Amino acid sequence: MKKSAILFLAVALSAGCAASNPAAPTPDTALGLQKGSVFAVPVPPPVKPNESAPGEQKPVAPPYAGSPPVIPHGTGDFLPITAKQNACLDCHAVTEKKPGEPTPLPPSHYTDLRNAPDTVADKVAGARYVCVSCHVGATDAAPLVQNRFIHTGENK
Ligand code: HEC
Ligand code: HEC
Repeated sequence: MKKSAILFLAVALSAGCAASNPAAPTPDTALGLQKGSVFAVPVPPPVKPNESAPGEQKPVAPPYAGSPPVIPHGTGDFLPITAKQNACLDCHAVTEKKPGEPTPLPPSHYTDLRNAPDTVADKVAGARYVCVSCHVGATDAAPLVQNRFIHTGENK
């Protein structure tokens, strides 16, 4: 290789390094969610499981219309949901709302949106059978990152 070509390469390489090495790099304590050194092994704050009995705690207002409400009671005794056993349905597959009693499943849960979107059936739709794939337990865990999501009801 010619001398001039080597010189050109050296200049190009050092320019490249300079570009990926900005003057004020992000300190490693500010890189991740843990807010500390990347070399630290943090102990996450314990998450307190909700062990309240159904009806003991008030339902939590959903963050936006159409979102699956969080489960305001413990679920430990009601899981797992299997093909033969679904404790959630034992309580929530009711037709009428009575004060202090489980809220009935909404008509959407009896509708097979893919094959018969206009029919409200007697049986819960297969896609709604595993309740906990959409409904999560209420928790008082602090969010790791501030969430400024505000739903306006429009697709913006
Ligand atoms: C022993 C009866 C019982 C069982 C079993 C049960 N629930 Fe509930 N659930 C209740 C009662 C009572 C409430 C409080 C009244 C209400 O809002 O429905 C409630 C509330 C809820 C709510 C809040 C509804 C709202 O409008 O905000 C959701 C979601 C829910 N349960 C989901 C579940 C899921 C998922 C399971 C299974 C893992 C389950 N429940 C098992 C009785 C039960
Ligand atoms: C595919 C996601 C999904 C699954 C699975 C699902 N849900 Fe829901 N659920 C929702 C959404 C979304 C809403 C709120 C909108 C609506 O009413 O359809 C809701 C609403 C509810 C409500 C509140 C009804 C009201 O009138 O306020 C209850 C109670 C409930 N679901 C219980 C259950 C139970 C019990 C199961 C399991 C048999 C289940 N859900 C499975 C998404 C789901």
